[in-house]
Amino acid sequence: MTRHFITFHDLTLDEFYHVMDSAAALKVERTKGNYSHNHLSGRGVGMIFNKNSTRTRVSFECGIIELGGHAVVLTENDTQFSRGEPTSHSARVLSRYLAALVIRTFAQTLLNDLARYGSIPIINALTDEGHPCQVLTDIFTAREKFPGIPLEKLKIAWIGDGNNMANSWLEAAGIFGFPLALACPDGYEPDPKILAWARTKNPTIILTNSPKWAVRGALAVNTDVWASMGHEKEQSHREKSFKSFVVDGALMAKAEPNAIFMHCLPAHPGEEVTEEVLESPASVIFDQAENRLHLQKGLLKFLIPSL
Ligand code: CP
Ligand code: NVA
Repeated sequence: MTRHFITFHDLTLDEFYHVMDSAAALKVERTKGNYSHNHLSGRGVGMIFNKNSTRTRVSFECGIIELGGHAVVLTENDTQFSRGEPTSHSARVLSRYLAALVIRTFAQTLLNDLARYGSIPIINALTDEGHPCQVLTDIFTAREKFPGIPLEKLKIAWIGDGNNMANSWLEAAGIFGFPLALACPDGYEPDPKILAWARTKNPTIILTNSPKWAVRGALAVNTDVWASMGHEKEQSHREKSFKSFVVDGALMAKAEPNAIFMHCLPAHPGEEVTEEVLESPASVIFDQAENRLHLQKGLLKFLIPSL
């Protein structure tokens, strides 16, 4: 059966731990200088980015190379996607060449359609609805920073927009069972269906509009930009709604004394988070970015069976 990673519903809890263990082993090997593997030897992995990307694109491309494969970058305007070829055709055509397809786009329905009609793993590199590769990496990073603490005791706080990242944190909390508190301004809550599902699985989930309440007891304080890709025109309007959702030193002081600060990046220093917090010893932002590479290598190894 072809496996995908479009949402957190696509793998079991055991499989997520397997991917993270595999990523940890690959990270250790890479630290020792062993970059090269042959899992994807001679095979191509497609990459479609209909939104901007630095980390996701480069970490996937390098990860594919390090696993012995080749990243086939498809730009919308150079392919027949932009000229209206049916997704049901493109999915079947690409499945005849590629070992998997990594895609960042707006509507998640495109990923679902590619998975439905094609026969290769579809990997969500961010949609309007979710960013599961980032959130799985962030869970991996949080476990690295708190190795003695089981995830069920590792409280995560989310401050700001109820966006794609917040949705994926909710899905992950439903599956992993860690305590999660989200503080979002009124009108900027996460997807109500995802929230409702996650709450049926994990009664610790809190949604509030008080950042101070959300960070109480948190070991990881997360935030993201106030206007995600596709919402740039709402920036000035959002600045008014989000002004009391800045992660600053005073807010971090209300979390656990050893709490880490997390941000998927890119950040807007001085907006959703102060420069002081971004550059503080609590900030693990560049470890998060590095771990995208290791985690996604583990994920590619899991989703793409060796020949
Ligand atoms: N965090 C993240 O996905 O970054 P990019 O947009 O640079 O890929
Ligand atoms: N929420 C942000 C994440 C970027 C990695 C966006 O969608 O733009």
